[in-house]
Amino acid sequence: MDKLAIIGGRPLYGDLRISGAKNSALKVMAACLLTADKLILDEVPDLADVRQLLVLLDNHGVKAERDGQRLTLDAGHISSTTAPYEIVRKMRASFNVLGPILAREGHAKVSLPGGCAIGARPVNFHLMAFEAMGAKIELEEGYVLAEAPAGGLKGAVVDLPFPSVGATEHVMMTACLANGTTIINNAAREPELTDLADCLNAMGGKVEGAGTSQITIQGVSSLHGAQHEVVADRIELGSYAMAVGATGGEVLLERGRRDLLGVAADILDECGLSLVDEEGGLRVSRWGTPTVSQSVVTEPYPGLATDLQAQFMALMSKGDGVATIKETVFENRFMHVPELCRLGANISVDGQTATVKGVPSLKGAEVMATDLRASMSLIIAALSAEGQTMISRVYHLDRGFERLDEKLRQMGALIERVKDD
Ligand code: UD1
Repeated sequence: MDKLAIIGGRPLYGDLRISGAKNSALKVMAACLLTADKLILDEVPDLADVRQLLVLLDNHGVKAERDGQRLTLDAGHISSTTAPYEIVRKMRASFNVLGPILAREGHAKVSLPGGCAIGARPVNFHLMAFEAMGAKIELEEGYVLAEAPAGGLKGAVVDLPFPSVGATEHVMMTACLANGTTIINNAAREPELTDLADCLNAMGGKVEGAGTSQITIQGVSSLHGAQHEVVADRIELGSYAMAVGATGGEVLLERGRRDLLGVAADILDECGLSLVDEEGGLRVSRWGTPTVSQSVVTEPYPGLATDLQAQFMALMSKGDGVATIKETVFENRFMHVPELCRLGANISVDGQTATVKGVPSLKGAEVMATDLRASMSLIIAALSAEGQTMISRVYHLDRGFERLDEKLRQMGALIERVKDD
């Protein structure tokens, strides 16, 4: 298993291209199952999670061809309507093949999902919505068995109890092939939702209101092929912006935009960073001034993304003042705290709130990545720490950050990937 060795203390400089969003790519890839024509996707990051979804799509008979950042998917014939446990358990987003297969083939059998260990992460909202659309849902030996009514799924009003990203995307895709109109109330508003809606509309779907709390989908009898470019990854963008905040320096994050970050952009301004939209990207800098502590709460977009919470904690770890960070989206998302403390951070946790007392300096140590986004917080802390940090279990990072060590080296960081014997 690979490790990352980082020697901290160097500011970051240069231009860096932000990859396509993992969380968007995974959903637009699943959307290929809605059409028998080819779906051409650009800016698809080459990540372990993307490769994992390709394994699942292959299981359903989808032919995939990759040419650089372009991925062409052809679901001309769906050879299997079953998504097996061995594949689905590795990544939660694979669950989102259920709706498209159900809508197109009339039935689907999909294992209940796995994914990062950051809380219970149920799929009850997804299933509730499909039942409202007329599907018969049964749970059997860890699998969801879904059956559409004889005339196909029908449009419905879906009131989500919480603006779940996965459930909103899943219902939006599925409703494209239902009879009649579906309305999703309390919909998630994340940029990935808008990106998926753009892709579905390019395929002939009739989706309106993506990016607002109410999305209306008028069902059509079939979707056709299309070409779509995946939006820039706002979590990669925010992570590198915070890395610059922690080390100082100036970086142009190409394809980045302030609006993708939601309130995180304003919070980082208040921390003493400068984030300026430019043609071609977002210029992020911090010169001289120390980072200022801020108290924050994670919330659905446009609130501070839960996927940036760990990185923000790393940024707050070194500096003057006290920050409180409240996690409201997932219940078990402070696994990075003991690891940050190994680097010298002073953090205490009480329920869903972490209190970070800034320290004058962090010191390199051996630490362990615990989940995808948490691991990025260790990178940020390590980049600003004195001496060497060795991070193990790097496979978590490889799931979601494309060419991470190469990109950081490009900005001047001292980081090497070492093979563990
Ligand atoms: C997606 C992102 C993940 C991000 C999260 C929140 C992908 C692949 N992953 O995850 O990186 O952290 O959005 O921004 O896009 N919930 C239920 N029942 C459901 C569905 C969700 O109770 O049926 C709860 C969850 O337990 C959680 C909250 O709703 O507490 C938000 O989850 P959700 O927005 O669905 O997250 P994901 O789509 O899984």
